[in-house]
Amino acid sequence: MSAIDIAPDSPVFSDVRGKVVILTGGATGIGAATVRLLNEHGAIVSFLDVNRAVGEELAAELGDNVHFFHGSVTTWEDQLKVFEWTVERYGRVDIVLANAGIDEVVEDAFADNFDESGKLQAPTLIVLDVTLRGVIFTVKLALSYFRRLKIRGSIVATGSAASYLDTPGIPVYNGAKHGVIGLVRSLRDSLKEEGLIRANVVAPSFTATSFTKNLIHFWKREGLPINEPVEVARAILFLAVNPDYHGKSLYVAAGTYTELEGSILATQEQWLGKQNTAWVNLRKAKNLKMGKPEDNV
Ligand SMILES: NC(=O)c1ccc[n+]([C@@H]2O[C@H](COP(=O)([O-])OP(=O)(O)OC[C@H]3O[C@@H](n4cnc5c(N)ncnc54)[C@H](O)[C@@H]3O)[C@@H](O)[C@H]2O)c1
Repeated sequence: MSAIDIAPDSPVFSDVRGKVVILTGGATGIGAATVRLLNEHGAIVSFLDVNRAVGEELAAELGDNVHFFHGSVTTWEDQLKVFEWTVERYGRVDIVLANAGIDEVVEDAFADNFDESGKLQAPTLIVLDVTLRGVIFTVKLALSYFRRLKIRGSIVATGSAASYLDTPGIPVYNGAKHGVIGLVRSLRDSLKEEGLIRANVVAPSFTATSFTKNLIHFWKREGLPINEPVEVARAILFLAVNPDYHGKSLYVAAGTYTELEGSILATQEQWLGKQNTAWVNLRKAKNLKMGKPEDNV
């Protein structure tokens, strides 16, 4: 376990000055706190959100360096237009924050819903669509723009405590958030080889946003940790600008920060066993990849 100290006045935040940032899900909660913190420290921010009224209000309040785009992360064209406009206007993008996600209350994927003829209906999987497919779109756009513009870029995806722990009541969300950490882990080695782009994950536990407003009294009653959105925003900025962080994940609870990926790798022999670890290390040493056979030599 690796506790990290990120003070509210950490000098690291000033490194975002002048940086061009694209963020998804910035109208409320963690995203809005991140937009505010970036703006406070002199970054330029373009953010996409489905919530037009609140998004426009936030951008108008913060002024000329904050640009709101109305649209959904599930629609490729909506995400593309944010990148196109921002790069056209500023000539670059330095930091991409894939933050939008929705809570499973919008659909119980395992409920028995039947159509008029009595057939069991398929779930829409809207939670997966926003929370994982939307992140894949954002990451694809970030990688493409960083590479084409030859920019040393940085990606931070908002995972969750649900990227690591079981979360009864929200199994599809949990699968999506495990997907977010899986995505970044699987890009880790190839991005490192490429040496151009860093990608990290912030993994907040319970945070006081609209997401949790109907549950917060239970957490308070039991004395469980609750983050303020700005505490998560600080972790996002820290990961976005700190050159020592790549393929890492900061778990955030009650405003404390714990890096998890290093500990998971360091203890691999304990949880995977000696022989299995040796086989995994052999595959890595030989640089063998799943996927296209021609990528292996
Ligand atoms: N609140 C928590 O306890 C908690 C814990 C762990 C992770 N998270 C994650 O943090 C992120 C932000 O959530 P939050 O807690 O700030 O909640 P929030 O609901 O306040 O913020 C989510 C934002 O995403 C926007 N959004 C929703 N669907 C969208 C779409 N299709 N396209 C674009 N924008 C969309 C919403 O309008 C909102 O502005 C999410 O990824 C969430 O899964 C939250």
